[in-house]
Amino acid sequence: MTPRVAGQLALVTGATAGIGKAIARRLARDGANLVLWARRSRRLARLAEEITAETGVTVDTGTVDVSDSDGVRAESEHVIESIGAPDLVVNNAGVAVGMASVQEADIDAWNRMIDTNVKGVLFVSRAFLPAMLARGSGHVVNIGSIAGRQVYPRGNVYCASKYAVRAITEGSNLDLLGSGVRVSGVTPGLVETEFSHVRFGGDEERARAVYEGANALRPEDVADVVSFVVNTPPHMNVADVVVFPSSQGSMHHILRDGG
Ligand SMILES: NC(=O)c1ccc[n+]([C@@H]2O[C@H](COP(=O)([O-])OP(=O)(O)OC[C@H]3O[C@@H](n4cnc5c(N)ncnc54)[C@H](OP(=O)(O)O)[C@@H]3O)[C@@H](O)[C@H]2O)c1
Repeated sequence: MTPRVAGQLALVTGATAGIGKAIARRLARDGANLVLWARRSRRLARLAEEITAETGVTVDTGTVDVSDSDGVRAESEHVIESIGAPDLVVNNAGVAVGMASVQEADIDAWNRMIDTNVKGVLFVSRAFLPAMLARGSGHVVNIGSIAGRQVYPRGNVYCASKYAVRAITEGSNLDLLGSGVRVSGVTPGLVETEFSHVRFGGDEERARAVYEGANALRPEDVADVVSFVVNTPPHMNVADVVVFPSSQGSMHHILRDGG
């Protein structure tokens, strides 16, 4: 059966690594044409070439920092004018910066997390929702986290940013009710990506320890869930879906080495 998103236009933020890159590849295999956004333009260009060669879909890229409201506005206008309003927007770009108690934390780290994870989702949603509403159809998928359901020590602001993503997903859905535009949440547990490498400023040992022995989800697992969510019929909305590796029972319960 041809996937519903075949021939549609999907915009994915944070497409240069991890979950976003896997979502881009998965949606291309579903036949969606893509617009890929992130800050690292060379990685974007390489990925676009690979995806087009593998699947034949069209792939446009934009070097966009989602925390820059002017940049998001300019680039979204460019997309809408030159290609059209996306049918599907995946707000995936996100970052954790360090781990610290509230009383000791680095304020720049807070700003980066809140600006990217919270304001980024808002800026991108604000940029594309009017065009979706004008057309009477569209789908926004926000990538949340189990860190948006349960806090952990020294995770305070990253967790807060992901609690906010959940509130934005639920709030947008209320605001859009009856409009033909759906908003879904996808809420992963532990996924092995560059996330912890970035969080710990390139400290490989600390990053490796996060995933050690846990048989974490692969980014492709989350991408498969996103593909399911966006290929559901228009009368249906997967409001939120929590995806764990089978070794994980909660934020605080992860079996390592099977025990
Ligand atoms: N890994 C996990 O265990 C896990 C679990 C639950 C939820 N998540 C969420 O999943 C999403 C993707 O994370 P990941 O694990 O795939 O991490 P990742 O491998 O570090 O990828 C993060 C992506 O976000 C992009 N990005 C970061 N800041 C950006 C900005 N200001 N503007 C535009 N793009 C930006 C990065 O691209 P550039 O650096 O090129 O801009 C990169 O493509 C995040 O929202 C994260 O919170 C991850």
